[in-house]
Amino acid sequence: MFYKTSQEHEELRAEIREWVEREIKPIAFMLDKNNEFPREQIKDFGKRGFLGLPYPVEYGGMGKDILSYAIGVEELSRVDGGTGVILSAHVSLGTFPIFAFGNEEQKKKYLVPLAKGEKLGAFGLTEPNAGSDAGGTETTAELVGDHYILNGEKIFITNGGEAETYVVFAVTTPGIGTKGISAFIVEKGWDGFTFGDHYDKLGIRSSATAQLLFNNVKVPKENLLGKEGQGFKIAMATLDGGRIGIAAQALGIAQGAYEAAVEYAKDREQFNAPIAALQAIQFKIAEMATKIRAARFLVYSAAELKEHHEPYGMEAAMAKKYASDICLEVVNDALQIFGGNGYLKGMEVERAYRDAKICTIYEGTNEIQNVVISSYILGKAAKTAGVPIRGKKKSAVTGPRKKMILNEGSAEDRVNQLVECLKVDGHDFTVGIDINTPIIEAERVVSAGKGIGSKENMKLVTDLAGAAGAALGSSRPVAEQLMYVPLNRYVGMSGQKFTGNLYIACGISGAVQHLKGIKDAATIVAINTNANAPIFKNADYGIVGDLNEILPLLTKALDDGNPKKPAPPMVKMKRAVVEEPNPAPVGRYVCLGCGYEYIPENGDEDAEIAPGTKYSELPEEWICPECGEEKANFIPSSKEV
Ligand code: CAA
Repeated sequence: MFYKTSQEHEELRAEIREWVEREIKPIAFMLDKNNEFPREQIKDFGKRGFLGLPYPVEYGGMGKDILSYAIGVEELSRVDGGTGVILSAHVSLGTFPIFAFGNEEQKKKYLVPLAKGEKLGAFGLTEPNAGSDAGGTETTAELVGDHYILNGEKIFITNGGEAETYVVFAVTTPGIGTKGISAFIVEKGWDGFTFGDHYDKLGIRSSATAQLLFNNVKVPKENLLGKEGQGFKIAMATLDGGRIGIAAQALGIAQGAYEAAVEYAKDREQFNAPIAALQAIQFKIAEMATKIRAARFLVYSAAELKEHHEPYGMEAAMAKKYASDICLEVVNDALQIFGGNGYLKGMEVERAYRDAKICTIYEGTNEIQNVVISSYILGKAAKTAGVPIRGKKKSAVTGPRKKMILNEGSAEDRVNQLVECLKVDGHDFTVGIDINTPIIEAERVVSAGKGIGSKENMKLVTDLAGAAGAALGSSRPVAEQLMYVPLNRYVGMSGQKFTGNLYIACGISGAVQHLKGIKDAATIVAINTNANAPIFKNADYGIVGDLNEILPLLTKALDDGNPKKPAPPMVKMKRAVVEEPNPAPVGRYVCLGCGYEYIPENGDEDAEIAPGTKYSELPEEWICPECGEEKANFIPSSKEV
């Protein structure tokens, strides 16, 4: 049982504290404000050996124990939570799987530079459909000759874009669930491996978080980590250790906020005395200190268990959950002690307050920690009938779509085919709306993504909007970072929702946040150079091609030379009914309101309707998941058996 750290641990703490106070503290405010990664400082931290804290000296590491590593993350986070997670994601997630599961060659090639701090590591597990349910991975890796061909996307990846080495999880054998997932070492710079935008986060803004995009990336066979099919276990075992890192991060954030609050309480005078003389403040501080001490014991003892190769998965989950829960309470109390001053931007407690929240979310939400902890105590809960079967293809973020890629003939042929399809679907291009119509009222929107390139190219998009009789929209970065359009024109989960009839996405790759904002569009058209961009899986029609070529052709094809007549009030069109492949569908019902089809094999996950539930067995209060129409307003699309 752990009671006290050694002198060596405390010397290391002092050394890291001195470094972070000198190198990060003076710029922490600026890093947070600018969403900026401390590149030079992390290089320096690496040169001092700290990026390899718990790895053996023979592999370039510092040869310290896991507790030393936890202290390292704690100390960085005490000053800046963002810097703390850079170390945690590098050591626990990007490097550990190579250390624990890599062969000797992989260790020499990848572990050594990571442990020496010459390279930064990251871990690619999370996907749009695989968050808490990590086994829902959809990225694929297909063995072709001497290489695996990697396709898919990862989201919310810490150190994404900054790291040089990535451990990426992908399905090598589809349809068999977690046993079909494998782990790969992937290098930044390989053809087809690109990054989405650096997310604009509430907190930990000095850390980089990005989307990873894999488009036919050739991964040499020798970069398979462990064996095919071992990927899920590698991910889970890695996360067990990672949770000690996040627990240490939460502990450090709490410690920093607590210290600041104690200082402030001694200094701030009210009622003719420092507020520290008030019992209300004294009790708060007593409670904060007690919680931090309890969290520290949990974190350090999980680290000690791991160090001594004892089982530690449950203890790491407990430490992560408890430390992050109390961290939120401590930063809240610290800000309360600071009063109005703490509410100001630039105050350390204000940053700590924002940094704290992520600790209850990432590396397994605290709810998932409870799943892990209780499974150690009670055994694994049986998978219930309501839980969808793994390996079953999930529908796209925008719901069932035609996904018709027009790839026959010349660019002009493909554009003409698209226009023909849209006309057949009922879109009337003799009428139009004003280009400045608010997105939420617009029947049609033509939107620009970052693929549009320079600002002059926006003319291609506005011309197309004119010819399509549509309003102008954009993805978030085009409005927020590039400022090509006003902020109120970006479409997405956090921006404006488009619920009209036709959405034409030009150069938009299709981040989940954007797709959620267009999921209710009747028809989605995607135009993009990257055939593997997620937007194509979420569109009814797609053209793979250069915007500079396709957009003028489409503008010409939609423009009949006459000015658009004012569009009549919008009548919401039915979304295309997607034809399912064989076997012939049975027992399906279609919603008269929106065309949504109830498929018994799928059930309705959101309404907790188990797969296999017949339409006739649906509760009477069940409503259409797409438009809210009552069950009575569904008609059979095939015979129920
Ligand atoms: N170690 C080794 N193997 C493990 C394991 C562990 N800790 N946990 C489970 N496994 C094995 C199981 O034994 C099982 O193997 P068998 O089939 O041979 O028995 C297999 O993995 C599947 O296990 P489960 O059926 O229990 O898996 P599940 O699909 O029900 O999921 C879960 C369990 C705990 C919910 C898991 O999905 C999970 O941990 N989810 C959270 C994911 C997560 O933490 N994501 C964080 C992303 S990284 C991040 O956030 C980093 C950052 O930004 C800084």
